[in-house]
Amino acid sequence: METEAIVEAIERVRAEWGQRLLILGHHYQPSEIVAHCDAVGDSLELSRLAAQSTAERIVFCGVRFMAETADILSRGPGRSVWMPAPKAGCPMADMATADALEAAWAHLCAVAPKAKWVPIVYVNSSAEVKAFCGRHGGAACTSGNGRRVVEHFLAQGKRILFAPDQHLCTNIMRVLGRADEVALWRRNAEDGGLTDAQIRAATLVAWDGCCPIHAGYTLQDVATARAAHPQAELLIHPEAPSIVAARAEHVGSTKAIIESVTRAEPGAELIVGTEDHLVERLAAANPHLRIHPLRPILCADMGRTTLEALLRTLTEWPEANQVRVDDVLVDDAKASVERMLAL
Ligand code: 13P
Ligand code: SF4
Repeated sequence: METEAIVEAIERVRAEWGQRLLILGHHYQPSEIVAHCDAVGDSLELSRLAAQSTAERIVFCGVRFMAETADILSRGPGRSVWMPAPKAGCPMADMATADALEAAWAHLCAVAPKAKWVPIVYVNSSAEVKAFCGRHGGAACTSGNGRRVVEHFLAQGKRILFAPDQHLCTNIMRVLGRADEVALWRRNAEDGGLTDAQIRAATLVAWDGCCPIHAGYTLQDVATARAAHPQAELLIHPEAPSIVAARAEHVGSTKAIIESVTRAEPGAELIVGTEDHLVERLAAANPHLRIHPLRPILCADMGRTTLEALLRTLTEWPEANQVRVDDVLVDDAKASVERMLAL
């Protein structure tokens, strides 16, 4: 089928379904997919939209943890969540399993039993991991509200097990001036590779997961981009290593990056350190600015959503494309995400 015919067919189905269908897309989706979304947002905005949705069917153009979060928040009779690319995962989410977290949790509580430990899990995690978090009184967070969630628990005198993104939490603690209170839990080492003294001294224990896409940014990338564009400001996503993010004028979620671009004066020059589908779209939508990628990076999983797959989902609704979190996990996982949304 020709692209034009696919595009027309998708729009026909959208018109037929009307308000009963909500198509959500993450900012990292390719532009041809974004064109068919009812709303495009960062993880936090998309979670809120899923929670408020009254649509019968949500079709999620993004990666699996996002669709699972939408299912957790929108569960109800006659409601369901679907993905055009059900195999689109997130390698960072795969770096923390609920079993490994439970074992780490038990160890932290045994080594420092008087500490008030709480888990915080980045939404880039499986439903099992969110359920682990909810069961232990913790909250999820996104790159957009991570600092608020961390500050909330620190203000209560809690000590935090943060998973899976070491860079997001290190960036948050750096901004709070507390980077030296972070201990890194190495998931493949016995007892996280930490001594008891290191655990007792830590305010935040960071799981050693990362986004393989953003974690690849280096100081050399910054030096090269700054040399090519000496007047430019650098905006970067907090999944970038803290040593790199510390060189940026602005560190923020995809939404925060977009807001910084929107506020920029005409003629301003910006270097943007995040996924290239978004950077390219920002450059095209803002011809009055000079926008350059820090270094073009693409998330292969985000790129799995194709027009053909979207149309097939909307017309055939294949069972394999439905995303349904195991019933036994929903309440605990929901508790962690709702605690986040309430903050
Ligand atoms: P946002 O929270 O900025 O949407 O980022 C999600 C993500 O997966 C970034 O890699
Ligand atoms: Fe996961 Fe990184 Fe892709 Fe985001 S960009 S979905 S964190 S792999």
